[in-house]
Amino acid sequence: RIFSDSEHASVAIARELADFIRHRTREGRLAVLGLATGSSPTRVYEELVRLHREEGLSFQNVVTFNLDEYFPMQPDSLQSYVRFMREYLFDHIDILPENVHIPDGTVPADQVGGFCRHYEEQIRAVGGIDWQLLGIGRTGHIGFNEPGSGAASRTRLITLDHITRTDAASDFYGEENVPRRAITMGVGTILEARNIVLLAWGEGKAAVVKRMVEGEPTDTVPATYLQHHPAVQVILDEAAAAEL
Ligand code: GLP
Repeated sequence: RIFSDSEHASVAIARELADFIRHRTREGRLAVLGLATGSSPTRVYEELVRLHREEGLSFQNVVTFNLDEYFPMQPDSLQSYVRFMREYLFDHIDILPENVHIPDGTVPADQVGGFCRHYEEQIRAVGGIDWQLLGIGRTGHIGFNEPGSGAASRTRLITLDHITRTDAASDFYGEENVPRRAITMGVGTILEARNIVLLAWGEGKAAVVKRMVEGEPTDTVPATYLQHHPAVQVILDEAAAAEL
């Protein structure tokens, strides 16, 4: 779906998510959301906060799982995804703290494998993810599944691509400060979500959007594996759609 700009697109997606949350709340069931960080979803989160404040949208029946986190990373650090999610969403809504899940960047390195298996078990225990929000990196990553990530990959510790670390350099005041690793849900984990919404804005994403949509599925552009998913929406502004 191509929108004139990211503002209209973000508001439309936030309303669809809100309708889903309300529907589930009326049924007395949980709504399980997979959430992304980065600049792409921020306006969606702002609109969800507005709907909470002005229209009483409740998140008490919402469970969230974030895609990824740098490793190592302290939750109160300026660049942590814990802090990002609090700032844009969790501090402003009525979600229950025990319903929020974000990969833990403080786990000792030798315990990351166990942590990742537990993360997957927690997703399964609530019946899987209903709606997964995604951005896309210039390397074609979803979450932090860099080139080389297979379609069946699971939640794990990965090494960040050089391009990804360059793109994150300004957040960390220099590329040398960007962590070399991260914990991410796998491509296989992401593909198990029942619905997927990928957001991409701006001309900087046009080339990778074209490869994702029109290229053959390949682990050199992990986002191409979304082509196998039965219910994925790619939400673009005109600039990101320019090369399609
Ligand atoms: C980071 C995140 C990804 C995100 C990507 C794109 O690498 N780990 O989940 O999709 O950045 O970021 P942005 O939305 O800022 O372009």
